[in-house]
Amino acid sequence: MISPHVPVLLEETVEQLGIRSDGVYVDGTFGRGGHARAILERLGPDGRLLAIDRDPEAVREGEALAREDERFEIERGNFGELRGLLEERGWMGKVDGILLDVGVSSPQLDDARRGFSFRDDGPLDMRMDPSAGPSARDFLNSATEEQIRTVLHRYGEERAAPRIARAICARRQERPVETTADLAGIVESVMRRKPGAKHPATKTFQAIRIFINDELEALRSGLSQSADALAPGGRLCVISFHSLEDRIAKRFLRDNSRVDPALARLPLIPPSARPRLRLPAKAIRSGAEELQTNPRARSATLRVGERLA
Ligand SMILES: C[S@@+](CC[C@H](N)C(=O)[O-])C[C@H]1O[C@@H](n2cnc3c(N)ncnc32)[C@H](O)[C@@H]1O
Repeated sequence: MISPHVPVLLEETVEQLGIRSDGVYVDGTFGRGGHARAILERLGPDGRLLAIDRDPEAVREGEALAREDERFEIERGNFGELRGLLEERGWMGKVDGILLDVGVSSPQLDDARRGFSFRDDGPLDMRMDPSAGPSARDFLNSATEEQIRTVLHRYGEERAAPRIARAICARRQERPVETTADLAGIVESVMRRKPGAKHPATKTFQAIRIFINDELEALRSGLSQSADALAPGGRLCVISFHSLEDRIAKRFLRDNSRVDPALARLPLIPPSARPRLRLPAKAIRSGAEELQTNPRARSATLRVGERLA
């Protein structure tokens, strides 16, 4: 069954964005529009919200919203290419708030045809944009053992990466790895399922999904372009769901909110080395009430940066 997407840290994010009724906002990860609708509720008639998503199903839902609300528009694309979309609109340096709520949505995870999850069997696809690049199936049936091991290690921090990569390649000798159940079964054949613990294939699925969608690189470039796109006082909110993403967001905000340490001792700090952002809040996590009602909230962290003049 495909469940609706329940937005995480909704109130906290909207509060941190500090919505101005005539402001210009960007939601880089529309999903099913939970955050976007909350932003629109606070915008007046002159406010604008541009949403982006690389998933055609999310975009279809956004297009329906755009037909009802002329303050809103949606583009199919990658927030890692934000600059082009904003330049087309003359919005660079003028945006009052940007949200990146990264990762996958519940409808993506729940739809077995998308191949993101081991919960139900489906084709091993995992592409957020099914028209872009190789699928997980293409990768697992053509990569070398070393490439698979590196992906599992780097993007899943999976300690059993060598064993799993070896098992995938051994299985390929008999027949291709085609489905989510195939992959989950291979992982289970080399890692015991511990009662009460996460499914042993959790990290493997996470790693392959991040690699196939080049998620960390998109986040790095999306963060940098977002900081350029903000108007002075404009805010960037990033919600991440695992330590790899959160580390990137945390380091980006830290590095952009201090003088470049290599140049900090110069008598005159060059403008390019001065901080672009200030950090108005520490990392924000879900409260007890949200944790009880939304399991996705358990691993969510919201980080915020504000553009300096
Ligand atoms: C966690 S969901 C966002 C949920 C949304 N905030 C809501 O309330 O419904 C993440 C969404 O971002 C999209 N996405 C992830 N990475 C993206 C990227 N680099 N560019 C554009 N969309 C991306 C996914 O397709 C997914 O729909």
